[in-house]
Amino acid sequence: MNIDDLPAQSTIKRIAVIGTGTIGASWAAYFLARGFEVRAWDPAPDAESTLRDFIHRAWPTLERLGSVEAGADSNRMRFCKSPGEAVAEADFVQESAPEDLDAKRRLYADIDASLPPSAVLASSTSGLSMSKIQAGFDAASRFVVGHPFNPPHLIPLVEVVGGEKTAPAAVDWTLDFYNAHGKKAIRLNHESPGHLVNRLQAALWREAMDAVLTGLAGVEDVDIAIKYGPGLRFGIMGPFELCHLAGGAPSGTGAGGFSGFIDHFGDGLQSWMDDLREVRLDPDVRSRLKTLVEESVGRRDFKDIAGERDALLMATMIAARTRREEGFER
Ligand SMILES: NC(=O)c1ccc[n+]([C@@H]2O[C@H](COP(=O)([O-])OP(=O)(O)OC[C@H]3O[C@@H](n4cnc5c(N)ncnc54)[C@H](O)[C@@H]3O)[C@@H](O)[C@H]2O)c1
Repeated sequence: MNIDDLPAQSTIKRIAVIGTGTIGASWAAYFLARGFEVRAWDPAPDAESTLRDFIHRAWPTLERLGSVEAGADSNRMRFCKSPGEAVAEADFVQESAPEDLDAKRRLYADIDASLPPSAVLASSTSGLSMSKIQAGFDAASRFVVGHPFNPPHLIPLVEVVGGEKTAPAAVDWTLDFYNAHGKKAIRLNHESPGHLVNRLQAALWREAMDAVLTGLAGVEDVDIAIKYGPGLRFGIMGPFELCHLAGGAPSGTGAGGFSGFIDHFGDGLQSWMDDLREVRLDPDVRSRLKTLVEESVGRRDFKDIAGERDALLMATMIAARTRREEGFER
């Protein structure tokens, strides 16, 4: 298969969203805002009304962010009676069923035969291997991972990776598709547990947990350290860009920039990396972490924290538009 065997991007009109929980509902709102027609399916008894409520609540936010395309309609959604019906006329499928290999494989067995011959299916899976999900299905070459970040209607990142049976063209096509519709999609060159971004997060969580378990700092101070320090920079630049800037302006002698950074700080960095410890999430460690976090974050009302996150995320997303408007987009 090559990319010409897949539908031209301009012809994509109808998207099937399978599984409409936390992630699927958010995807559905996003695709509607981008002007697509959505065919949705989820087996939960109240799934249709929950989904319509979610879209209704998400729409004003999408409008404020300028993510609603001219002509897009939040009602252009049909809730289907079966997954086969939802995918039968779809140009693209976004699957967001529970994170359970057997459940996903049962679902794929149901839709394999109904999937139109050139439609690509992307799974939102956070960490399952596509090679294991796709094994044995006729349409396996068009199955990819399209892993979003919660909530996908707001956060642009999608990680794209194929399994052993995925055609490279399907990965290319999926990257083009997301990037053409306002997402920021990145290619992973091979499968890896937790993909890329959850591994990056795991490295940070491991150190945050180690810090509170060994008494280096309290939970509140670890949270403050990130949100008033590196978190501010990580919201706008990546780790390598920031290292480059930390090395100073490059001079004609080659000093500065990333080279300056690694030469200046490399030995110290190596000694910190050598000192990183393993954190085993055994029952005792889990219990200690639960107590420590409950005593700090858990004291606050959950809705207040969620409201704070959403308000600040909205401000950050509006600031992120500057990236595009000022021509900083790469
Ligand atoms: N929650 C996150 O932060 C997050 C982030 C990125 C990716 N993901 C991935 O998205 C997928 C969905 O996770 P979620 O957090 O939305 O879970 P969720 O539990 O909120 O939603 C799952 C939905 O799937 C439905 N469902 C149950 N059986 C099904 C089936 N056989 N076919 C289709 N749908 C079925 C459920 O009724 C539910 O509405 C998972 O693969 C997860 O790893 C989650």
